Amino acid sequence: MRGVLVTFEGIEGSGKSTQLLRLSERLRRLGVSHIVTKEPGGTALGAEIRRLLLTRHASGEAWAPEAELLLFYADRAQHLKAVIRPALEAGQVVLVDRFEDSTRAYQGASGVGEDALNHLRDLVLQRLRPHLTVLLDLEPEQGLSRAGSRNEALPGFQETRFDEAALDFHRRVRQRFLQIAKDEPQRVSVVPAKEDPALVEAGVWRAVSPLLRSSGIEVD
Ligand code: TYD
Repeated sequence: MRGVLVTFEGIEGSGKSTQLLRLSERLRRLGVSHIVTKEPGGTALGAEIRRLLLTRHASGEAWAPEAELLLFYADRAQHLKAVIRPALEAGQVVLVDRFEDSTRAYQGASGVGEDALNHLRDLVLQRLRPHLTVLLDLEPEQGLSRAGSRNEALPGFQETRFDEAALDFHRRVRQRFLQIAKDEPQRVSVVPAKEDPALVEAGVWRAVSPLLRSSGIEVD
């Protein structure tokens, strides 16, 4: 495949979406052809799956972690087929807001085992891996309070209430992201997300620009 796949990962409130848009804006100014997409919800089927996930607490029925896992992977399978693979085959730069590492971090923290995670990854991604993953790292206390003030009135994926259980869950999610970065330092670049957005943007660019240059894309 000729394109370049860059994924953005991090806990809620880490500023992924803001940074992704800033990078997209920079690429646009440089004339680099690219697309921006997200999981869950990057396709028509994905939008339906996202709606199910968003309202999963409404019925009062507790979902099996594997049911949730399979919905995220159904979203991803469609996203790969309809959006990501065609764009890569067309030689585009593809920027994705959340990808496989989110499943490893979140569903892993909900109790899904490594075997199931690896099995689904192999089935759906086959040999495809991001060329680069930008992990925006932030303490959950900060992320949750940022996300909480943003989403106060919205039904959220996780509890937006700033309670101990939510904090504990997000601490585990963060540790899982950091462990992935430790295991795959050549793929995952950790960018501290605490500073102001312009400094974070510079950190993201330091991670992304060498990959674009080495892929033959003019960025200077
Ligand atoms: P979203 O509204 O897209 O918010 P964010 O700005 O935090 O990305 O929410 C996505 C939620 O879904 C978020 O809580 C992380 C969760 N998620 C998983 O649990 N597993 C996954 O595989 C993915 C892609 C997301």
